[in-house]
Amino acid sequence: MYRTHNCGALRIADVGTSVTLSGWVQKSRDKGFMMWIDLRDRYGITQLIFTEEATPKDLFEKARSLGREFVVRVEGKVIERASKNTNIPTGEVEVEVTALEVLNASKVPPFTIEEETDGGDELRMKYRYLDLRRGNVQKNIIFRSELAIETRKYLAGEDFIEVETPVLIKSTPEGARDFVVPSRMNKGQFYALPQSPQTFKQILMVAGFDKYFQIVKCFRDEDLRADRQPEFTQIDCEMSFVTQEEILNTFEGLTRHLFKQTLDVDLPTFPRMYYDDAMRLYGSDKPDLRFGMPFVELNDVAKGKGFGVFDNAELVVGICVNGLADQYSNKDIKKLTEWMQRPQIGAKGLVYVKFGEDGSIKSSVGKFYSDEDLQAWGAKFGAEKGDLLFILSGETDKTRKQLNELRLEMGSRLGLRKPEDFKPLWVIDFPLLEWDEDASRFHAMHHPFTSPKKEEIPNMLNGDHETMKNLKADAYDLVINGVEIGGGSIRIHDRELQSKNFKLLGFTPEEAEAQFGFLLGAFEYGAPPHGGIAFGFDRLCAVLNGQNSIRDFIAFPKNNQGRDMMIDAPSPIAQEQMEELGIDLALSEDPLIH
Ligand code: AMO
Repeated sequence: MYRTHNCGALRIADVGTSVTLSGWVQKSRDKGFMMWIDLRDRYGITQLIFTEEATPKDLFEKARSLGREFVVRVEGKVIERASKNTNIPTGEVEVEVTALEVLNASKVPPFTIEEETDGGDELRMKYRYLDLRRGNVQKNIIFRSELAIETRKYLAGEDFIEVETPVLIKSTPEGARDFVVPSRMNKGQFYALPQSPQTFKQILMVAGFDKYFQIVKCFRDEDLRADRQPEFTQIDCEMSFVTQEEILNTFEGLTRHLFKQTLDVDLPTFPRMYYDDAMRLYGSDKPDLRFGMPFVELNDVAKGKGFGVFDNAELVVGICVNGLADQYSNKDIKKLTEWMQRPQIGAKGLVYVKFGEDGSIKSSVGKFYSDEDLQAWGAKFGAEKGDLLFILSGETDKTRKQLNELRLEMGSRLGLRKPEDFKPLWVIDFPLLEWDEDASRFHAMHHPFTSPKKEEIPNMLNGDHETMKNLKADAYDLVINGVEIGGGSIRIHDRELQSKNFKLLGFTPEEAEAQFGFLLGAFEYGAPPHGGIAFGFDRLCAVLNGQNSIRDFIAFPKNNQGRDMMIDAPSPIAQEQMEELGIDLALSEDPLIH
């Protein structure tokens, strides 16, 4: 038998019991006459003790020969510790070892297997199996498992059916590039890996499944960031005969259940905000509501006073940071201005107004505005003595984006974005279409299957170009702490409207038929009204743990170049394999192949 207990199980009540434990050698301390080893497994750490009096000499020597990460099996007796460790649950006892078997030796690991490790990112990714032994990494993966199980429990309780959809499919346009897989049996043809199961879940509604969910891998070939992986997981859901209201309530229920079960946190009713308001007040469709600092527009009070920059701007807009006026020197503001001027943000400058505690008013644009003018600005923000205004100007969308960055930065600097504070929000009524000035075409803001709001349908079928730009959709996002956790919509279930949408998005009828004929066809056989949502499962794990990077919650993540460092993928394939697949690179020189 390998073990009677795991390494996290023994307590003071077990003193006197004979036990067998198996695990990894975390570390040992050798005092010559006495030696301790920390034995680790998934459940915890148990201290083993070897003493000159109690341990036979050869056993002591054997213990001494163990290195870090050796796998051992020990037999022994549980005794009370002389000096107790209150930091771990097993800290009151230790095991006096009577037999020791080395199950497997280990090379010296390339980094320490501790919470605080000395291993860099690349090294830890290469030896992911060692990284995954670290308690904090393991904790994240176990948390993820719990979250998946709780998700299934909740959705099953709401009569959802879990259905698997295929991974080798045809492109579904969710806005990113597809990963493609060549077909050996159909040379020159490719499958695409799903960016999401969107069309399949809609087909399942046509088939009458009514409530579907799947915890499912999705694949998107896009630039990677802390919250983006090329393969990631969604809690993907779809429902028939539902309104937006019912969907929001169902998934607010799921979110609340998950917070309660995993963190014992009771979330309040989620507030809702129109997309237009989110953009106007926070310059973002995913505002972080853990702190205030909403935008205040100053066009009416800042223009027409001879300051050309503001006079010529489409939008003059700012935020008010409480209590910062006397804390931020001109040098601090200069540094902040430089931060805003970096190409990543691209602000031209940053105007400030300081309302000093002593009643003074100082501003970088004091030349152009009287104290009364600046007081009037302050009044718009509800600013008080000690407050500092930061103001930007320029083209509306760009300026809002820049001010969003500044707002988030100030929130972080002032410690207002607390990881244990949770502020969920539904952002609703997204625009249906987005006009791309450069490409001179519309893109779907969510995806091409999203329905306009019911009252907009006649406008969509008959309206002019300007009308199309302003169409609102029954589309919504769930945002928590400034992170887009999920997105969904009510779908079009009518062939004519779907065809119109494809047309607006630049598909010819032939292209629409070739790509989505199956869906358009299905809409002709009694498609029910339906809608749904998908949560980013990895992001949900990270947000629940107050973290930004989803990588730590994925057992085998890719690095920023999209590489799996452990298995070294992607990698070249053999010439024969290429030939078999009909993708011989030499062949691609052939003009017929292009
Ligand atoms: P959407 O494209 O908004 O919607 O995706 C849903 C959620 O998936 C997460 N997400 C990602 N997470 C990690 N890495 C990525 N590369 C990544 N891309 C997206 C986000 C996002 O909110 N089919 C629709 C859903 C629907 O309409 O029902 C869809 O996929 O958290």
